[in-house]
Amino acid sequence: MNARRQNILRLFQSMGYRHDTYKLFADFCELAALSLSNAVDPAQREGREARYLQIVKGYTREEVELFPRVLAEVTLGLEEGATDLLGAVFHDLELHNKYRGQFFTPFEICRMMASMIVGSKEDLRRLIEQRGYITACEPACGAGAMVIALAETIRELGINYQRHLHVTAVDVDAKAAHMAYIQFSLLHIPAVVVVGNSLSLEEREHWYTPAHVLGGWTGKLQRAQAAGLVEVEEVAELAVPTPAASRPSAPVTLPAVGQMTLF
Ligand SMILES: C[S@@+](CC[C@H](N)C(=O)[O-])C[C@H]1O[C@@H](n2cnc3c(N)ncnc32)[C@H](O)[C@@H]1O
Repeated sequence: MNARRQNILRLFQSMGYRHDTYKLFADFCELAALSLSNAVDPAQREGREARYLQIVKGYTREEVELFPRVLAEVTLGLEEGATDLLGAVFHDLELHNKYRGQFFTPFEICRMMASMIVGSKEDLRRLIEQRGYITACEPACGAGAMVIALAETIRELGINYQRHLHVTAVDVDAKAAHMAYIQFSLLHIPAVVVVGNSLSLEEREHWYTPAHVLGGWTGKLQRAQAAGLVEVEEVAELAVPTPAASRPSAPVTLPAVGQMTLF
């Protein structure tokens, strides 16, 4: 187990004597997701801010201060290498079997599957050339391991997933959706994460990543839909206003040291 995972476990364990670990983990995920969303999604900010304040009421000041420290460790962990870090921590804390029997796919399996799906760089380039990007849908995303592996596989082929990939990910469990949303946000994957049921098509919440909003993906997908290039369902709920300033999107490069590469 790497140092980041150990640090995250220690931080959760330091609060564990007063709180149920499952609730603690779920609250951390929701608080982090709310903070990230509130930075980019003004349409939902008021309700999400109220929800944030409601959750923190259940913790002491010292405990509340531990949550950003966990998020810092997650951020640094993903900076060190794209992986399903929160999914791994979820298993480390032995939460996967409690209540729901929720097991996430080991990241190496996700990597193998992603490379089989993506194929060669030439195949991928041909697909991207059709409209400038590809879309992916994960109907039972868990913490997002399959999507993270897909993004990493694309990056390794020398293609900037932050520009050329858009993801729609769904999970019926809000905690799982929050985990995926945090990791996609930190890895700057353009995505909408839906809390909903992929079988009944019920949609309860929509979480737009910073890369989605800053990259103007609502407009891009709507234009593609108008041109008949995207399935209608893919853009039906994308109602977040796109900020005027879109993020400059340079190719992803990973220097050994120096400025963080996630953003
Ligand atoms: C075995 S986990 C796999 C998660 C992820 N795809 C992975 O490979 O790590 C299955 C996930 O599907 C979600 N799920 C189950 N039924 C669902 C449904 N009807 N709609 C959306 N998500 C569902 C569960 O909450 C759980 O997070």
